[in-house]
Amino acid sequence: MNGSSAALAPKRLEGKVAIITGGASGIGESTVRLFVRHGAKVVVADVQDKLGKSLCDELGAKDAVSYVHCDVTSDVDVENAVNFAVTKYGKLDIMYNNAGIAGKVYPTILDSDNEDFKRVLDINVYGAFLGAKHAARVMIPAKRGVILFTASIASACCGESPHAYTASKHAVVGLMKNLCVELGQYGIRINAISPCGMATPLLRNTMGLEKSAIEEVLCASAVLKGVVPEAEDVAEAALYLSGDEAKYVSGLNLMVDGGYSTTNQSFKMVLKSLMS
Ligand SMILES: NC(=O)c1ccc[n+]([C@@H]2O[C@H](COP(=O)([O-])OP(=O)(O)OC[C@H]3O[C@@H](n4cnc5c(N)ncnc54)[C@H](O)[C@@H]3O)[C@@H](O)[C@H]2O)c1
Repeated sequence: MNGSSAALAPKRLEGKVAIITGGASGIGESTVRLFVRHGAKVVVADVQDKLGKSLCDELGAKDAVSYVHCDVTSDVDVENAVNFAVTKYGKLDIMYNNAGIAGKVYPTILDSDNEDFKRVLDINVYGAFLGAKHAARVMIPAKRGVILFTASIASACCGESPHAYTASKHAVVGLMKNLCVELGQYGIRINAISPCGMATPLLRNTMGLEKSAIEEVLCASAVLKGVVPEAEDVAEAALYLSGDEAKYVSGLNLMVDGGYSTTNQSFKMVLKSLMS
């Protein structure tokens, strides 16, 4: 969207207050940009202070966006981030638990490092739990709110990611569904978004490849052809799930994967190679 049409487009999050964990980079950063464009007040919660602050400086018109240092594995940090949002902006409407790491890739479970497994679960699951818990603390009395999680295609397709990552993203979806049942009585909606691979710093570091090389791999293995999956696509899903357009949507794990998780191409590929 160009500058003038963006200015004319309706602001779908006007008056809402959001916290986005992992908001300094990748999917979180794209979501921060989109939410601010749609009129939300956004708190960027991350451990990359320099990056997070420079994003806020860039977008900082009219105090619309603030940075807080927040390690999602720290109860105190997450509590502070939620308190900061409520003190500065008066309330919390949207808690987007997006921070996550991939962990290291090991050839087999026998090679896997135990501490790496715990670290991935700590950030991806415990961090998401803390985000939801502190958000619920202020959303329950308000009798409204939206809690979102970034899960992954690894919550549906197994064998392509490290064990810790796959386990963590299955757990995030389980947590999301459990919370949906518990918090529905307070008018709080809970959803997850499961992106396919996207060439963010997370995947670039994991694969040790340039953005263009990763996108080539992603497009070659994609079901939906002719488009490159991007962090902005996830941000658009987060915008939908956070806004009033989704007022009756809760308990959903929204796949943003171009249909990748609907199929398993192994049989077709083996058959093709046998016949060629
Ligand atoms: N990129 C992909 O291919 C992909 C696919 C599916 C799901 N995801 C998920 O999307 C989410 C965002 O990842 P991304 O691809 O944008 O990666 P990214 O590395 O660009 O961003 C992740 C952000 O999380 C932050 N973070 C890491 N540990 C943290 C901690 N302890 N506390 C607070 N912040 C922390 C990082 O500093 C970083 O800014 C993750 O949950 C990831 O698992 C990514």
